[in-house]
Amino acid sequence: MTLTVVGAGYVGLVTAAVFAELGNKIFCIDINKERIEGLKRGKIPFFEPSLSEYIKRNLSQKRLFFTTSYKESVPKSQIVFICVGTPPKENGEADLSYLFAAVEETARNLTGYTLITIKSTIPIGFEDDLESTVKKYAKARFEFAACPEFLREGTAIEDTLHPDRIVIGSFSKKAQKILLSLHAPISGERIICDIRSAQLIKYAANSLLATKVSFANTIAALCEKMGADVEKVIAGVGADRRIGRSFLYPGVGYGGSCLPKDVLAFIAIGRHFGYDLSLLRAVDDINQRQIELFVEKVRKALGVKGDVGNVAQDKKVAVLGLAFKPNTDDMRDAPSIKIINHLLNLGIEVTAYDPQAMDNAKKILPKVKFAKDVYSAIKNQDALLLVTEWPQFSQIDLARAKKLLKRPIIIDGRNLFPKDKVKELGFTYIGIGR
Ligand SMILES: NC(=O)c1ccc[n+]([C@@H]2O[C@H](COP(=O)([O-])OP(=O)(O)OC[C@H]3O[C@@H](n4cnc5c(N)ncnc54)[C@H](O)[C@@H]3O)[C@@H](O)[C@H]2O)c1
Repeated sequence: MTLTVVGAGYVGLVTAAVFAELGNKIFCIDINKERIEGLKRGKIPFFEPSLSEYIKRNLSQKRLFFTTSYKESVPKSQIVFICVGTPPKENGEADLSYLFAAVEETARNLTGYTLITIKSTIPIGFEDDLESTVKKYAKARFEFAACPEFLREGTAIEDTLHPDRIVIGSFSKKAQKILLSLHAPISGERIICDIRSAQLIKYAANSLLATKVSFANTIAALCEKMGADVEKVIAGVGADRRIGRSFLYPGVGYGGSCLPKDVLAFIAIGRHFGYDLSLLRAVDDINQRQIELFVEKVRKALGVKGDVGNVAQDKKVAVLGLAFKPNTDDMRDAPSIKIINHLLNLGIEVTAYDPQAMDNAKKILPKVKFAKDVYSAIKNQDALLLVTEWPQFSQIDLARAKKLLKRPIIIDGRNLFPKDKVKELGFTYIGIGR
């Protein structure tokens, strides 16, 4: 099949790369000329394991083409996947300006029957507006379908090739047939439903994942009050197959380009349909509070008074991990940003290290010093703060770390380090709920 993928971001590029790998001819469009020029030379604009090899292989085998022109690609395509961003507005609703621009430009270039398939996460209730936008500009037949995306950054290729499910939102038999045939080589349960249900599946799934994180953080807070160990409690709870361990982990809260924005957008959708998603308001509150609780731990451990304003405290910390999660360089809504800004406001100096996200972080955190590796980051610092659980951080030579730090304090925002061993080595260890 010949497809157009609109948006060369995390979702669009992975979609383009995987469907090209499966033998389809793919045009991938973006309005960002620089990004497209780089991609034509095989330069990937962000870090995602294996993506570079997939893109380069399919470029050289002439199955994958990058362009800024809808005219060049849409008329040749049976399916147009819309994968543009839907970032949050100030009020929590999704900003749909990129979506409508992409759909309008697609419509203007339709020449024969085309299935416009929305992969972006978009609020429920805009199907009619999208349809009227296309009708206004299109001179050819089209249908709409929703095919929400569930990939996780860091394992995006694997998730796209082996998803748990493929959701196809369309009641048109023709649209279903096209999408089922395209996905035939890919495993996973097929769920076929109407467009609204498909979109709701995406919001409900992300909201439930966020709820699990906030639930674990609630239990962690209680454990701290009671002197219980959240790691044991969560292990005991998660061992129940009806509940499961996944996403049931305490820490500094969830971040990234999806969970925070989708929870807020879902609350706004509920409001629009006259239903107060109070559960999710609590989930979001708990998530925000988690940052403050972590900063409070740092402040107390260093003996910095609250409300000191932006006055230098002669205290320095190393922050290990900046990306919103391991195996990505994505800094969108990363908890590290809020934590670091709070620390800087308390007059605490911050040196940071992340294996992949430092280039992106430098643009967002100009007052932070960046170190070339873990050991230079922690040298002469008053504490080591673990914020993102990159697997390599669990290999840190703790005895060496203790010699390098000015004060042997570890504040572990992801419960990554073995608490007892760290204490045995003479550190003051502060985790989350343990
Ligand atoms: N990133 C994820 O892990 C993930 C997972 C599942 C779903 N989603 C959803 O998928 C959508 C895309 O997310 P993303 O992270 O890939 O976004 P992104 O910001 O990485 O990429 C979006 C791309 O679209 C391009 N674009 C904007 N307007 C355009 C237009 N009119 N024509 C062509 N290109 C245009 C931008 O230049 C950008 O390169 C969002 O709705 C998101 O919520 C993301």
